[in-house]
Amino acid sequence: MINIKENIKSVEEFNLLYDDVGWGAYDDNITQKALDNTFYSVSAYDDNKIVGYGRIIGDTICFLYIQDIMVKPEYQGNKIGTMIMNKLLEKINEIKQENPDLRVYLGASKNREEFYEKFGFIKRIDADLGYGMILNK
Ligand SMILES: CC(C)(COP(=O)(O)OP(=O)(O)OC[C@H]1O[C@@H](n2cnc3c(N)ncnc32)[C@H](O)[C@@H]1OP(=O)(O)O)[C@@H](O)C(=O)NCCC(=O)NCCS
Repeated sequence: MINIKENIKSVEEFNLLYDDVGWGAYDDNITQKALDNTFYSVSAYDDNKIVGYGRIIGDTICFLYIQDIMVKPEYQGNKIGTMIMNKLLEKINEIKQENPDLRVYLGASKNREEFYEKFGFIKRIDADLGYGMILNK
């Protein structure tokens, strides 16, 4: 059975998943800093084995970003990504009680938009907003 834990800051598990989904892990000291500065995260386990992860970064009240949603390839398609997103959205709803104007962003990888649309995310362009942008140098 899959179980979810909050705020586990394991460099080893994070980098393992990063490699597994093909993104190429950061150096351990970089990952450590990234996890230290993470507002909230959820890790999914099959028994004690890490199989999924997702985190929220941001200023904790006005702007939050969902980041690094990863499910181990052999576990994909079993709603683990959904469990992770739902848990992150629970936390986001708590923050919304404090600040109803909270804005929540994410940068979807190419062709992953449909996955996030299931949780209420829309493409900025469909809301008549500009594109999201990324520094290219
Ligand atoms: C994208 C990812 C997190 C989805 O996790 P998952 O556990 O496989 O997804 P789920 O089983 O919870 O799927 C939920 C729904 O999203 C859909 N979905 C899953 N992956 C999708 C994708 N890549 N594109 C479009 N829809 C997708 C499923 O078909 C399912 O639809 P349904 O509810 O109508 O049945 C996972 O495939 C993954 O880790 N991919 C590699 C890393 C990655 O790209 N992360 C996202 C970065 S933006």
